[in-house]
Amino acid sequence: MLKLLNEKEFLLFRHLVGKKIGVHLRDDSRESLSRKLAKRADRLGFSGYMAYYRFIKSQRGEKELVWLINEITIDESHFFRADKQLSWLVEELVPAMMEKRRQPRRLRIWCAGCARGQEPYTLSMMLLEKIPVSRAWDLKILATDVDVDSLKAARRATYPAEMLKSVPKPYLFRYFNPVAVTKAGRAYAIKTEVRHSILFRKLNLLEFPYPLKGPMDIIFCRNVMIYFQMSDKKRLLEEFFRLLAPLGYLCLGSSESLLGVDERFQLVGQAIYQKKE
Ligand SMILES: C[S@@+](CC[C@H](N)C(=O)[O-])C[C@H]1O[C@@H](n2cnc3c(N)ncnc32)[C@H](O)[C@@H]1O
Repeated sequence: MLKLLNEKEFLLFRHLVGKKIGVHLRDDSRESLSRKLAKRADRLGFSGYMAYYRFIKSQRGEKELVWLINEITIDESHFFRADKQLSWLVEELVPAMMEKRRQPRRLRIWCAGCARGQEPYTLSMMLLEKIPVSRAWDLKILATDVDVDSLKAARRATYPAEMLKSVPKPYLFRYFNPVAVTKAGRAYAIKTEVRHSILFRKLNLLEFPYPLKGPMDIIFCRNVMIYFQMSDKKRLLEEFFRLLAPLGYLCLGSSESLLGVDERFQLVGQAIYQKKE
């Protein structure tokens, strides 16, 4: 089995990943990356990292690049993450937005970097629960990610009980069906009424311009940009600005800020920004 990536090899893989999906691998990730790549290269019969690198860069290595991307992305997420931010958005901002917009009764939301669907499903459940009138609206949630394994899980919409610990009990009863008891415990499937407004699609936030038309009323991009370099963040915000409706909202992760990055968005709440007119 291959040993530790040497410095040059590590920098090559880091550059490749950074360029492809914007994730900047830290220096201290050399060991963990080596472990993943060594196992993989060994399985595919490569005798050295350079031969594997050349393969991944070649046309024949396209699928392997997808594997690498799926390995590198951090799809850490959970249902009802930052629920105070979501409650304020759903209970205050969205109703106010709906009140102003008499016609057309349309609401467009985009979850960019949706992991295994926890964020868009949470949002859909909260909208159904808190704004019953939203059922009569043309409501669509576009949920995108670059990691195709995460998207597969999101579309499956079935989660082990372990992953549903953060779901409040009333939501669990109303919006999930128990489907099976496996060795790992009980699994639950999200009900159709929660799923039907959501469309999952693959989209790499580092491939510009995005193949989307907009306008979006709300964009979620929570805990995704933290791994991006400033120049990539700026380009991404350029695209968000283009796609957001005037006075539309951009929601970031609780530790993220646009201070000094883009002045065209105004902070209006907990990591919630509004596009200035
Ligand atoms: C830490 S998770 C955050 C998930 C969710 N937004 C949340 O806050 O719970 C980051 C997600 O961003 C996705 N991601 C990373 N780089 C990306 C890129 N270049 N394009 C699209 N998605 C990306 C990862 O695959 C992962 O699912």
